[in-house]
Parts: sequence; structure tokens; C-alpha cells
Amino acid sequence: MEVIETIAQMRELRRAMRLTPETTLALVPTMGALHKGHGRLIQRALTLATNVVVSSFVNPLQFNDSRDLASYPRTPEQDQDICKKLGVHYYFMPKPEEIYPPGFLTTVNVSHLSKKLEGASRPGHFRGVCTVVTKLFNIVQPDFAVFGHKDAQQLVLIRHMVRDLAMDVEIVAVPTERDKNGLALSSRNVLLDDDGRRKALCLNRALRRVHFLVKKQGITHVGELLQAVRSAINSAGDGVELDYAHIVSRMTLEELNHVERGNTLVLIAARVGGVRLIDSTRL
Ligand code: PAF
Repeated sequence: MEVIETIAQMRELRRAMRLTPETTLALVPTMGALHKGHGRLIQRALTLATNVVVSSFVNPLQFNDSRDLASYPRTPEQDQDICKKLGVHYYFMPKPEEIYPPGFLTTVNVSHLSKKLEGASRPGHFRGVCTVVTKLFNIVQPDFAVFGHKDAQQLVLIRHMVRDLAMDVEIVAVPTERDKNGLALSSRNVLLDDDGRRKALCLNRALRRVHFLVKKQGITHVGELLQAVRSAINSAGDGVELDYAHIVSRMTLEELNHVERGNTLVLIAARVGGVRLIDSTRL
């Protein structure tokens, strides 16, 4: 595996790849602190293209809270080992000044979709995500880019952005990876203590409850389903605080009154022992 630190090196490499027409490239954008969920994204990327780049960049522009940025887990050596073992070809780890040179002024914003839901709780977050993803696409010029379903709103926005700006990349999504108890894998899980890990299961419990109510009891009224989500989260006890729960259209992210089968996303964010976790499911 080759480690690349500069835009110039990455561009040079991409230019060379284009000389062999059968070479294709898949990008897995990450912020490092890799876990099994990233492993799944990488494995999917390896089935899509002859070459895979994993980018590792803790993007300051998508953190609206400097303490959150400072406490974000960083495990660079371990990440490189994981990528090597999985058969990744290139590991791109640019420095912040490489991505945001002095005088950087241009950002990408997917209009009102950026301000809803997670965007309402974390102002500027999606502007940061869309800007860095655009920049990574411009630098790496991948044929495919692989993202997880867990960050459901991020996926909707990136697909929108790629369509709106005619970006020449195919977005491929991979289902959320969970531990054996159902906790969605996230780099932030390492910040949870034992009690937090137990309590964090309430997010998945809430989503499973919604599935049960819709599929087994035929309940489609969103108000009733959100009430069930709130009870599941509240029943986890002290130290768990629901930030939001929404049931929205997968296309437009507009709130729904009733579940539309095949076009519904359930999104939850909660703080568990001070750690902010998100989870989602499709109906
Ligand atoms: O999902 C993430 O890890 C980040 O938001 C991404 C897509 C790598 C952009 O920094």
C-alpha cells in the first residue's frame, strides 16, 4: 500500500492510472479511526474497481464544536495496518493546510437540505462535508465513491450534490454494520464507557421498535411511531438525551405524516454519557 500525503502526488498517480484504460478507481472517504464498518466499505470498494484509495482526513470544516474536533478519535498507525491487511492500494492522508490552503474561500452547500435534521443540530456540518467530499472527488477523480447508510442524511446530500453538479462519480452505499448487540459501529463508540455502551443500545432498540410497529402491527402514523422512539430512548435512563427523532421522505428529507413504504427514513440522534451518536433505518 502506498501512502500519499499531497494533492500533487495523488494527481500524478491518477494521471498514470489513466494510461491503462482498464484501470478503475474507487474512493472510500473516511476521517480515520477505522472500524469494521469502514472495513465493509473498503471490501465493497475492492469489488467495484481495480484500485482502491482510502482517504483519511479529520475535516475541521464539518465540526461546529472545537471540543468535538479535539476529542475525535485518531488512530493513524492502526488505520494504515487495517487498510494494508484489507488490500487497499493507496492511503491518502493530506494535511489540513493541503486541503484548506491560506485564503480558502469556496464552499459547497446543498441549500436547504443542509439545514435540516442533523444540519439543524450541527450548523455548518454539511457545508463542511460537501466541501471536503467535492475536494476529494476533484483530487482523486474516482470512478466510484463508497459511503455508509448510517449517515443517512449525508448520503442523501452527496447523491444530490453529485447529480446537481454533474460530478462524474458513481455513489455506492453500504448497509450499516452493527456489533452483536445491534449498536451501529461508529468511530465515536470508543468514547463510550461500559455503561454508555449498554445505554447506547437504546438507539437500535428504538429503530427495531419502529420496524415492529410498522411491519407487524400495520401502524403508519408518524406521530405514533415517534412517540415509540421517544419512549425507547427515555427508558434507557440517566445520561441519555434524545437530540432528535424524525421520520422523513428518503427523496426530499421532508417530514412525513404517514410512512411511505420504500421511501421512508427514520433518523435518530442522541447523547449517551456526553457522546453524540446517530442511527437510522429505512422503511
Ligand atoms: O462520513 C465521514 O466519515 C465524513 O463525513 C466524510 C464523508 C469522510 C467527510 O469528511
